[in-house]
Amino acid sequence: MESRIRAVLGAATALLLLAGCTGAADGGGVDIGGVRGTPGAAGLRDPYFPKLGNGGYDVTHYALDLAYDPRSGRLDATAMITARAGQDLSAFNLDLAGLTVDSAAVDGAPAAASRAGNELTLRPREDIDKGAVFRTTIAYSGTPETITDADGSKEGWLRTEDGAVALGQPVGSMAWFPGNHHPSDKATYDITLTVPQGTQAISNGVRTSERTANGRTTSVWHSAEPMASYLATVAVGRYTTKVSATPSGLPVLTAADPVVAAKSAPLLARIPELLAWQEKTFGPYPFSATGAIVERTGDAGYALETQTRPVFPLDSLTAEILVHELAHQWFGNSVTPATWQDMWLNEGFAVYAEWLYAEDFENTPAQVNFETAFAADINWAFPPARPPAAEDLFDPPVYQRGAMVLHRIRQRVGDRTFRELLAGWAARHRHGNASTADFTAYAEEVAGEDLGEVWDVWLYGDERPRRPN
Ligand code: TRP
Ligand code: ZN
Repeated sequence: MESRIRAVLGAATALLLLAGCTGAADGGGVDIGGVRGTPGAAGLRDPYFPKLGNGGYDVTHYALDLAYDPRSGRLDATAMITARAGQDLSAFNLDLAGLTVDSAAVDGAPAAASRAGNELTLRPREDIDKGAVFRTTIAYSGTPETITDADGSKEGWLRTEDGAVALGQPVGSMAWFPGNHHPSDKATYDITLTVPQGTQAISNGVRTSERTANGRTTSVWHSAEPMASYLATVAVGRYTTKVSATPSGLPVLTAADPVVAAKSAPLLARIPELLAWQEKTFGPYPFSATGAIVERTGDAGYALETQTRPVFPLDSLTAEILVHELAHQWFGNSVTPATWQDMWLNEGFAVYAEWLYAEDFENTPAQVNFETAFAADINWAFPPARPPAAEDLFDPPVYQRGAMVLHRIRQRVGDRTFRELLAGWAARHRHGNASTADFTAYAEEVAGEDLGEVWDVWLYGDERPRRPN
C-alpha cells in the first residue's frame, strides 16, 4: 500500500506540474484534460460540526460489506460508495474515525489515500468531471471506536455483552464506515453483515438474504429509501427475533436481547397499532419496513430512531419513547434536518407525538403537557432553534420547547389546520431535507397568517414569555 500510494502521488504531482506550466491549475481557460479539478471541501460548515460531511460530491448509494468478530471486536470491511460529482474533482474527502484504510480505488483505479483526524482524503488517478457518477471502493479494518460526545454521551460503535451496536447521532457513523456523514447527504444502502454462526446481525430496512457457510452467517439488508448516515445501524449479538406484518402489509422485524425479550414483547407487539395511529395524523409511513432493536439496559443510555428499526435500551422502552422513536421516522428520518441547528425539527415533533399519544390514548390534552413544560425552568435555558453549542443539542429546550412551538401554532390555527400542517410538512419534504426557515415559511403558508410572534418568542426568544391563555 505504502509504495502504491507514493507511486500514485508521484503521478499526481507530475500532472500538477504540467498543469502549472499551462496555467490550467487555477481552473482558468486551457483544458488539457483531467487536471482542471479542485479538491472537494473537507466539511460542509455545519454550525456545530464544521468538518462533518464533505463538499464536491453527493452520495447516492452505500454498499457496505462488514465482517465482525464479537470476541476480538475486529471489523473487516469494504465500502463501495456511488456518488455524483458536483464539481470537477481532483480529490475529495470522506469522514472516517479510527480504523485502518487498507486500499482505496476510484472507478477501479487505485487512489492515493491520506488521513488527518477524521478526514480521509482520496486522490483519484484521474480527475472526476462535474456531473460524473463515480464509484469509490475502500477496504478498511480494525477495532471500531466508541465516540464520546461533547455532552458525555456515547455513540459510534458500542460493544455489548455479546456483540455490538452502532449508533450514529450526531457523528458516530464515521466510527464504522467512511462516508459523507452530514445529514444533508442522504443515500440508499445495502449493508451486508457477516458474523460467526450462532450470532445474529440486524440492520436497517429489509433483510433480502441470509446464508450460513464455513461457520459464518451472512445477511444482506436493503434500505430502498434515502437514509441520512446517522440513522444507519448494525446490531450484532444474540437476539430473539420476531417477523410479522402490519395490516397494510409492511414487514415488521423486531430483535430483542434474549435477557429482555419477554419484558419487551408486549410493547413491541404494539408497533403496528401505533404506526396505524400515527399514519392518521402524519400521513403514509415513509419506509418499506419497520421494527425495533432492544438491548439490555446499560449498553446505550438512550433510545435512537435508527431508520426503520429504532434501538432501545430496555429501560427506555416505554410507550411514550416508542411513540417518540416511531414519530421520528416521519420527522427526522424522512424529513431530515438541513443542519444540526435544525435538530428541534426532529425532537419538537417527536415530543409532540408523545403529547398527541397522551391526548388520544390517556385522556391528557396536549395543553396539560404544554403547561407542564412551560412551567419547568430547565426548558428555558436557550431558544430551541439556537442551541449554544454541540453539547446542548440533546437538551430539554430542543425537545420540550420544540414541542411548545408546535403547540403554540396549534393554539393559533386550530386543530384542523394544525393536523393539515403536520401531515403536509411530512409530505412536502418526504425523503428530503428541510431547514427551520423552510418550516416557518411553510407554517405561515398553511396558516394563511403571519406567525412572527411564535417565531420571535417561542422559537428564537431568550426569555420565557408570559403564560399564554
Ligand atoms: N435523539 C434521540 C431521541 O430523541 C436521543 C439521543 C441520541 C440522545 N443521542 C443522545 C439523548 C445523546 C441524549 C444524549 O430519540
Ligand atoms: Zn428524539
